[in-house]
Amino acid sequence: MANDEVKPTYRPEVFQVKNLEHAKSIILTPEDSTTDERWEKETPYLADEAVSYLGLGPGMVVLDYGCGVGRMAKVLIERSGCTVIGVDISQQMRELAPAYVEDDRFTICARPAFEAMIAKGLRVDAAIAVWILQHCPDVESEIDVIKSALKPSAPLFVCNNLHAVIPTDLGWIDTGFEVKSLLADSFDEMSRSRLSTEFVAPLVSATGFMGKYKNKRD
Ligand SMILES: C[S@@+](CC[C@H](N)C(=O)[O-])C[C@H]1O[C@@H](n2cnc3c(N)ncnc32)[C@H](O)[C@@H]1O
Repeated sequence: MANDEVKPTYRPEVFQVKNLEHAKSIILTPEDSTTDERWEKETPYLADEAVSYLGLGPGMVVLDYGCGVGRMAKVLIERSGCTVIGVDISQQMRELAPAYVEDDRFTICARPAFEAMIAKGLRVDAAIAVWILQHCPDVESEIDVIKSALKPSAPLFVCNNLHAVIPTDLGWIDTGFEVKSLLADSFDEMSRSRLSTEFVAPLVSATGFMGKYKNKRD
């Protein structure tokens, strides 16, 4: 009997953007607000949480996994003087980010280059992954990269959807994995909470979470 089930195909091309405005509209979709309002209100809120939890300061090297145009990297550098290595799958995001961040303490690369650095011994002091892991069909392997880049016991700050939102030829689909459970398998979870409705729309608060982790000592 023929199997008529149509299987969705992963389409990361959605992250191929034309310019900064287009990038922003993909990075922060309106979700009962607007891209600009989210950019203005959410960014300092998440930066406060990240800088304080990660204990950032000058001389620290931070991984921003799935950094986009460097929305978070820029503010982390401004506030703490840290150095940020951004990693992103999208060549266009990687091209836009240096001009957006506009700071010599920021650099960006693709995953293969970053993995080569890890293989040669690079270990970072802290990491963030903001609104990215829910979009990765092979999220365990992305979590492995973050884990292998972090020093033992180093902190990780995550902001994410509760459920997967994978870009496919059939639209954005939930493939069923829960990022919070996968993170808890690989890291010690220090805290996990909803995003405050003082800074995000109720829809974003209801569907996302903020998690603070430490790399397991192994
Ligand atoms: C919703 S945006 C968030 C960008 C940024 N973290 C922020 O909050 O401003 C998701 C980003 O993750 C990137 N991305 C998606 N899948 C990825 C993967 N497997 N590895 C690295 N980056 C990825 C996209 O290109 C995009 O820039």
